[in-house]
Amino acid sequence: MRGMAGDPSKFARDLPKAELHLHIEGTLEPDLMFELARRNAVPLPYASVEDVRQAYVFSDLQSFLDIYYAGCRVLLQEQDFYDLTSAYLQRASKQGVRHAEIFFDPQTHTDRGVPFESVITGIHRALAEGRERLNVSSGLILCFLRHLPEDAAMRTLSEALAYRDWLLGVGLDSSEVGHPPSKFQAVYDRAREAGLLPVAHAGEEGPPGYVWEALDLLQVRRIDHGVRSLEDERLAGRLVEEQIPLTVCPMSNVKLRVFPALRQHNLKRMLERGLLATVNSDDPAYFGGYVADNLEAAAAALELSREDLILLARNSFMASFLSEGEKRRHLNDLSGFADQPSLKTTS
Ligand code: HPA
Ligand code: ZN
Repeated sequence: MRGMAGDPSKFARDLPKAELHLHIEGTLEPDLMFELARRNAVPLPYASVEDVRQAYVFSDLQSFLDIYYAGCRVLLQEQDFYDLTSAYLQRASKQGVRHAEIFFDPQTHTDRGVPFESVITGIHRALAEGRERLNVSSGLILCFLRHLPEDAAMRTLSEALAYRDWLLGVGLDSSEVGHPPSKFQAVYDRAREAGLLPVAHAGEEGPPGYVWEALDLLQVRRIDHGVRSLEDERLAGRLVEEQIPLTVCPMSNVKLRVFPALRQHNLKRMLERGLLATVNSDDPAYFGGYVADNLEAAAAALELSREDLILLARNSFMASFLSEGEKRRHLNDLSGFADQPSLKTTS
């Protein structure tokens, strides 16, 4: 890391930050997968934790999703969703996360016969406890699976509205190409009417046109990934002008071959262009790193300075759905952290 005194991994870890792009199902570490498989008597296609890790080699988004959805089969009881979420929060807290806006994929579970109530109650209980015990605040974002029809998303939303107060927003994930945001316009209209804050994955594998649709048709407040936005100069200009956040996930992008290597990632160009980019972990159990690991790896590969990392942490709070007062409090903490004399730059 350029201009960095002391231990760069400690700096990335201790930096106060928000995580805004995190699929709770993507935090299922192999050891918990084995434990839940045993507890629920679900057969696994893997002989050992080592065997699982070896299977995590992906050629694109779909090759990952196939394995990710298969892993979800061990999640059956409310307690499983609680244990999953609780384990994430403990790891996130150790990585400097002060606030997390977390995705969950209810259709992945309800389509297997798991009640919606078990999913959301287990996650919600762990989030409430994380606020008390770890001082990590959080919000929950319900994602619709875009490879399924819009009426399935609409039924999921209807069911979710019984838990309206436990939800912060709605998102859109799964196989992007061939499933444009326009397919989900009616369900987003209804979600916004209910006061849910809209975000969507767009421009991960899909073209910049999908980012335009997410903005214009779904009226999203953030774009998840959005790395392909830089291919369209007019789109990049709009994102800068309106300061629409992009929740970028560098390690995910390399694992799913959106970029051939971290050195080729466009995160630094995004910051230079004035985009409100943030760094996040996406599915850390599958992509090999949590949020501070992503910051550290991106910093090393792209020669990001200490100031760049502080800007990314600042962006994470600015891009969050926290109140203005809460944002100010976190930004003050961040300034206090950045001003510590032991963290003076070497240059
Ligand atoms: N993209 C789309 N769908 C997903 C992802 C992702 O990165 N992670 C989990 N579901
Ligand atoms: Zn994602």
